[in-house]
Amino acid sequence: AVLILLGPPGAGKGTQARMLEEKFGLVQLSTGDLLREAVAAGTEAGKAAKAVMEAGELVSDDIVIAILRDRMAQPDCARGVILDGFPRTTVQAEALDALLAENGQKINAAVSLEVQDSEMVTRISGRYSCAKCGEGYHDTFKKPEREGVCDKCGGTEFKRRADDNAETVASRLAAYHEQTAPLIDYYEGKGVLKRIDAMGEIDEIARNLETIVKGAM
Ligand code: AP5
Ligand code: ZN
Repeated sequence: AVLILLGPPGAGKGTQARMLEEKFGLVQLSTGDLLREAVAAGTEAGKAAKAVMEAGELVSDDIVIAILRDRMAQPDCARGVILDGFPRTTVQAEALDALLAENGQKINAAVSLEVQDSEMVTRISGRYSCAKCGEGYHDTFKKPEREGVCDKCGGTEFKRRADDNAETVASRLAAYHEQTAPLIDYYEGKGVLKRIDAMGEIDEIARNLETIVKGAM
């Protein structure tokens, strides 16, 4: 199965993708995470991506498509994938169509997480994650059960992203509206688009999403 999560920065793509991954045994594939790994490892792609990400702009299609292709070729992806943050441009969507055609796969659903812009800044500015396992948290909306201890792995170190500041968030939102929002029509045209109200509680959104995913498998 191939699921796509579309939505602006902070919509909850990563949060929901990790929950779906556990429920359906799919692999979460976040180009944002893959790029942050490349930056941390200092690869050529990472060097080219670093400043672009810090400015809140989109990394070039060539780099992102190459990273995605490599990751999709790993054996675990044969179980099915949840694409979180990819595609983000029409060029990327077309490259994905070509790659899936080569592999004999198809898109089961592209789910658009719909959230108001005003909500993003609140969500992003309170976000942090476990330094060990990557589990995501929020200062107000999703605290660990025991303060300072990760629910998933017991880790006690947490980190915040370099691009989670008010100025960068504004550029990321602009990039979303200009370059990524047109994909909603693209997938509507293919008959695979589902829309979901992503303004509510995390668990309620997860339940609605689960129903959509079951219907699309
Ligand atoms: P990426 O890492 O993909 O970031 P993003 O799209 O900006 O999305 P986020 O990770 O910020 O948000 P999310 O929707 O996953 O929200 P989350 O679940 O964390 O991309 C980063 C950069 O990499 C880009 O700017 C670009 O430069 C580059 N890049 C990546 N992919 C690319 C591509 N394909 N092409 C080109 N460039 C690319 O939730 C946010 C917070 O809110 C969390 O703290 C969470 O706990 C909380 N939360 C979640 N849901 C709710 C809820 N319902 N109510 C309250 N709080 C909630
Ligand atoms: Zn952890």
